[in-house]
Amino acid sequence: MIFREAVSPDIYSIVNIHIDSFPDGIQTYMGNTYLRKKYHFLIMFSEVKLVCEINGEVVAFCFSSPKPNFKLKLGFLSYLQIILSLVKNTSIVSKLLFGRLQLSFAKNLVKSKQFLLENNVELGYIAVSQTKRSFGLGAKLISEFERIASSKFSYNKIITRTHNDRLTNFYVKNKEALIQKEKLTNDSYTCTLLWEIKK
Ligand SMILES: CC(C)(COP(=O)(O)OP(=O)(O)OC[C@H]1O[C@@H](n2cnc3c(N)ncnc32)[C@H](O)[C@@H]1OP(=O)(O)O)[C@@H](O)C(=O)NCCC(=O)NCCS
Repeated sequence: MIFREAVSPDIYSIVNIHIDSFPDGIQTYMGNTYLRKKYHFLIMFSEVKLVCEINGEVVAFCFSSPKPNFKLKLGFLSYLQIILSLVKNTSIVSKLLFGRLQLSFAKNLVKSKQFLLENNVELGYIAVSQTKRSFGLGAKLISEFERIASSKFSYNKIITRTHNDRLTNFYVKNKEALIQKEKLTNDSYTCTLLWEIKK
């Protein structure tokens, strides 16, 4: 097993892991073109960009969120493809968007004054292939993320958001993360956490 920096040829595997990991996520409904552009953007502008490879196959990834001054720009054709993908699933998308609106309190987290004051990096995206989950790979990936964030970019804190209460417990228990915000609606859950990187 190796951890290495993500590069453009990894995009195909990364997009497949994303679709597999977030089958009901709004970005999955936005379609392959959008996801390919998004991960290309993350490979270009994320400070910490990691994949885990087993026997030459990419099985997991994690990325830090790019700084707010880097924005994903899409051309007219991409927007058209996204709209076409979304209209195929109108009912699910409207339900997802409604859930998102209810939870939008956590949006633009990295831009908020409180977090700009801290020397933190946002763990924005993490996923492990279905067949490789629950073997400790995710935990190793997070430790590698911390190592690079601290040694290469001198960050001392990590902030993240999760929609998974099991993962929230993992951060609280193993990283001594502090819960900044937590919100539960009928069908969505979001938690914002902050923790110090232990040296
Ligand atoms: C969350 C995820 C990255 C964890 O990777 P993993 O290799 O399975 O994780 P590990 O085996 O190292 O376990 C670390 C923690 O991850 C969480 N986890 C593990 N397997 C999980 C699963 N199948 N589903 C949800 N969370 C899981 C647990 O909190 C676990 O700690 P615990 O065993 O003390 O409860 C992985 O389950 C995944 O890709 N899930 C789908 C995508 C996702 O939810 N990403 C997080 C964005 S909010």
